[in-house]
Amino acid sequence: MAAIAQPGAIVYLNGEWLPLSEARVSVLDRGFIFGDGVYEVIPSFGGRLFRPDQHLDRLDRSLAAVKMNNPLARERWRAVLNTLLERNGGGDQSVYLQITRGVARRDHVPIEPLTPTVFAMSSPVVRQNRQPVTAIVCEDIRWKWCQIKSIALLANVLMRLEAQERGAYEALLIRDGFLTEGAASNVFIVKDGVVRTPPHSKNLLPGITRDLIVELLARNHIPHAETSVSEAELRAADEIFLTSSVREVAPVVKLDDRPVGKGVPGPVWESVVSIYEQFRNAEVARAQAGAAA
Ligand SMILES: Cc1ncc(COP(=O)(O)O)c(C=O)c1O
Repeated sequence: MAAIAQPGAIVYLNGEWLPLSEARVSVLDRGFIFGDGVYEVIPSFGGRLFRPDQHLDRLDRSLAAVKMNNPLARERWRAVLNTLLERNGGGDQSVYLQITRGVARRDHVPIEPLTPTVFAMSSPVVRQNRQPVTAIVCEDIRWKWCQIKSIALLANVLMRLEAQERGAYEALLIRDGFLTEGAASNVFIVKDGVVRTPPHSKNLLPGITRDLIVELLARNHIPHAETSVSEAELRAADEIFLTSSVREVAPVVKLDDRPVGKGVPGPVWESVVSIYEQFRNAEVARAQAGAAA
């Protein structure tokens, strides 16, 4: 689970390095006024960013979708994020970066050209991979462009609050009778030995962990399909697991107060998470060796 960055943590704001407690943005920032911005969350393991290019590619796609230019070149992003990690002690962290359209007189349409606000912080993470979670089924009340990693997360917040009120960790979202994703994760089900997850569409975020799991399923010849999953199929699944950069691959053992399968993490999840951890550990070792060379 991501911890909140400590007040003494060093953050990056518009080219400056500052303690978190001293970082300030204007109340006229369009991120504050309109939620007009996009973000990324990139995990680090053992002091190395995991899949940074995939995250920065998705950032480019989010920015293009909201008609903003990327204010930093790829190499500059890499340098900023690596410095951020180092300055906050390395190890296992969750790196958060956010770009808003900038500061302007409040109007939906900005009149003058704006300078984007660029912010990045990182916080230590206590890894909770493999820890079972519980979930509820919830109507997907979000807008129609869920492929964009927008900072406007009010619907996600409300759905997770509903999960919390009902004693669960995550809300699994249904749109027009079909599963889209979790409020902060992608969702996989297992039925009769076949792993299934909804295909990419504007209804869900193309999760970096989701895409890696699909790649690893194919590489390891585990039967799988990227197909739509109805609410009935979700409820009848033998196994359900969630993926996200911070939670990695988490088994869901209870859905709306009913056990999923036998109510304990299932055997297919067990193989998938082991394959994932092997891949992640090898990548981290390679990145550490590269840095040391
Ligand atoms: C709505 C939503 N879907 C999926 C994900 C998982 O994406 P990733 O694996 O890139 O972290 C997240 C991550 O926070 C999310 O907020």
